[in-house]
Amino acid sequence: MNIWIGILIIVAVILTAFSYAIATFFLTIMSGAPFVATRKKLIREMFDALPLEQGQVVADLGSGAGDFLLVAAKEYNATRVIGYDINPILTHWTRLRFKLHKAPITPEIHTCSFMKADLSDVDVLCLYLLTETMEKIRPIVRTLPEHAIVISHGFQFPGCVPTRTVALPHGNMHVYNMKAFQAE
Ligand SMILES: C[S@@+](CC[C@H](N)C(=O)[O-])C[C@H]1O[C@@H](n2cnc3c(N)ncnc32)[C@H](O)[C@@H]1O
Repeated sequence: MNIWIGILIIVAVILTAFSYAIATFFLTIMSGAPFVATRKKLIREMFDALPLEQGQVVADLGSGAGDFLLVAAKEYNATRVIGYDINPILTHWTRLRFKLHKAPITPEIHTCSFMKADLSDVDVLCLYLLTETMEKIRPIVRTLPEHAIVISHGFQFPGCVPTRTVALPHGNMHVYNMKAFQAE
């Protein structure tokens, strides 16, 4: 009898976790962009081309599994890394990855919409979002400090000319300074 109760509890836990994962996956797609990670090779190429300097504050809107932030913290000595993602599985996984990789700093990871992001101290903002989502986040991006730089993997802000577009071995990077948004 006890064995059957145990099996029932395990099945219930697995089913709940599975439904939760499916629900957050569809929530994510409906709210902005599905989860696809930027490869670390491309992240390094993007940071090298920028170049990302030591001691900067790096943020990612839709931070996924935290790859941009982990590379910035571990390999480019960022002083703060800040991520926003609506999917709680990904934000928990990001925090755990920082521990597993023994990253030198603790990431500031927020489980909420990136429309609530505080970007007031950010030097470099990383993005990998669909074009229509880029359009939505424009008001948030305009709250960046004047010196900030935005780098986008693959996608562009509609109707906004990038300051620089760099073709890299593993993908394209669009770079925007804040003047690109003021000129609109
Ligand atoms: C294409 S992935 C990019 C992940 C990460 N930036 C990278 O390049 O590896 C887009 C991410 O945006 C997140 N996302 C979508 N809509 C969102 C919203 N409204 N607020 C916060 N995050 C959102 C998704 O959960 C997903 O993890």
